[in-house]
Amino acid sequence: PALSQDQLKTLVGQAALQYVVPGEIVGVGTGSTVNKFIDALATIKGQILGAVSSSLASTERLKAIGVPVFDANEVQSLSVYIDGADEIDAKGYMVKGGGAALTREKIVAALAGQFICIADESKLVDALGAFPLPVEVIPMAAAQIQRRFEAMGGQASIRLSGADGQPLVTDNGQHILDVRGLQIREPLAFESTVNQWPGVVTVGVFAHQKASVCLLGTASGVRTLK
Ligand code: A5P
Repeated sequence: PALSQDQLKTLVGQAALQYVVPGEIVGVGTGSTVNKFIDALATIKGQILGAVSSSLASTERLKAIGVPVFDANEVQSLSVYIDGADEIDAKGYMVKGGGAALTREKIVAALAGQFICIADESKLVDALGAFPLPVEVIPMAAAQIQRRFEAMGGQASIRLSGADGQPLVTDNGQHILDVRGLQIREPLAFESTVNQWPGVVTVGVFAHQKASVCLLGTASGVRTLK
């Protein structure tokens, strides 16, 4: 029988262990695929010094399995950062932030020499933009940023919290816009442009910090894209 999406995530979560450097601190992302990686990490936790985490949610999980979590300011560099993606293309450019952790993800990724992306095959796309693009914004700038995306042909809406229907508040105390209807043909230029807009904290296009390696879970096993 075909593997379920959950099983594909488990497969790539385990495959990512081979990139973890013994004796070092590993960068850990956020999301359901990374949760599988954290489960796998429990089996080799004695071999690593600890982790730098990209979200409060991952920090909790890491602590629960007994992995020491370091503050990002305590480390100068990491060999590897392991994280999922909402979309990834053949060049390793990604859209991230479906779990609202994009800012800390980009910060930890920037410390790392290699970004190892783990994803099931549904995440691989020809061009970025079908997944609504997450953008973390300072609340007082939300409306002007929405208008800028409209001028580009996108429709931006403020993400609401499932719990109370109020705007979702990120780990950094800010809001998330989800932008539909964009076709991101030049991810590097797009990321640079949006980064210039006042009030943008982080745009969910990871082009300047693209994946070095993608471990893609497919029906026939783990496919490695470099
Ligand atoms: C979190 O903010 C995102 O960037 C995640 O990396 C992304 O949403 C992937 O999550 P899943 O592994 O749950 O699909």
